[in-house]
Amino acid sequence: MSSGVEDWLTDSNEALSLQMIRSEEDAEVLADDEVQAIEPFHPDFTYPIFGDKEKIFGYRGLEIKLHFASGSLKQFLEITYDDKIKSEDTPADDIEGTLYKFIPADYTKSAVAFDAIVDADAKTFRPLGEKIGSYTRSAAGYGKGKGKANGEDGSAPDDEDENAVVYEMYKTTWNTPGFRDYHRRMQVFILLFIEGGSYVQEDEDAWEFVTLFERRKRPDSDIFTYHFVGYTSLYPFWCFPDRIRLRLSQFVILPPYQHQGHGSHLYSAVFAHMRSRDDVAELTVEDPAEAFEDLRDRNDLRFLVKQGITEDPKFLEGVGTEERGPRAKWEADKRKQHKIAERQFDRVLEMLLLRQLD
Ligand code: ACO
Repeated sequence: MSSGVEDWLTDSNEALSLQMIRSEEDAEVLADDEVQAIEPFHPDFTYPIFGDKEKIFGYRGLEIKLHFASGSLKQFLEITYDDKIKSEDTPADDIEGTLYKFIPADYTKSAVAFDAIVDADAKTFRPLGEKIGSYTRSAAGYGKGKGKANGEDGSAPDDEDENAVVYEMYKTTWNTPGFRDYHRRMQVFILLFIEGGSYVQEDEDAWEFVTLFERRKRPDSDIFTYHFVGYTSLYPFWCFPDRIRLRLSQFVILPPYQHQGHGSHLYSAVFAHMRSRDDVAELTVEDPAEAFEDLRDRNDLRFLVKQGITEDPKFLEGVGTEERGPRAKWEADKRKQHKIAERQFDRVLEMLLLRQLD
């Protein structure tokens, strides 16, 4: 009866659907090219939760909805199916029991209660921690060329139009009041979207986080609402003799917000913030995914060009010669000045040299 068993298997990436929920009045003001922010999306990975094969056994027509209040990330869980296997030998998987180990216990299964949470949180939720940067896009939407990128170096947008959609970044640590709970709600995105991602240890004190939110003013009111876009986590390691090396460990932009430049903004703001800190010697990245390496390369290249490295009289000096001494010193000085990790700096410098020599 092996074909029978197949009948009861569901792909867990397809069955699980995620959605960021805004209150009705906040949802209805979204333009056509913005509604993707509130549409359902699927995880890329569920193997850390449902096992290597990413299959759930025992149901037909299975749908698992995990909804998040768009700012506070409070959760709603609904599991529905057309049919469930009735067999004592091979019982159906316990979906809620499995998920329960990965999400905080305070989710609700009541749609009515969740609506009330979304409405209340929309008015009161504020990002936790210290604001370290922001940028704006025109309220007209996400469309190509409309995105307006002020404040790229972590500074505030210069023409603060309160009706514009503003993206704000906040730095937190475990000491930020309320952040431990917030982190427990957002960390599931690491498992669902980063291959090989795992939860950070809460008893490691030194973690730092930067969260990214969309901020909107509700029309005809004084209410600002905040909607979670993504976040990154960083861990400080000792760097000889008396500074730290910040290692970027996790980095995620939610799918409805991907490919719109948010990842680049978040990375650039984190980079600018760490450069402004005397205690930080350099930024490194743990086991970067290919898409992230791309993003990092593009932003580091842009940054170094902006800093005028290619205009530096020493940029081409000693290239291709045996005499490495003075050039090596110039490279090391530049690298330290810009706080880029050695391997990454070498890579990016090589790309710039190749471009120049082309
Ligand atoms: N319109 C259209 N395309 C755009 C726009 C725009 N306005 N702005 C940027 N893009 C393009 C970029 O050119 C880039 O194109 P490419 O993919 O062809 O190179 C692409 O969008 C991505 O750039 P961003 O938009 O700046 O990046 P994004 O916000 O999509 O974030 C990231 C990238 C972080 C990899 C995201 O896709 C993600 O979170 N993925 C899942 C999790 C993941 O893999 N995280 C990294 C793990 S590694 C680690 O954690 C250390």
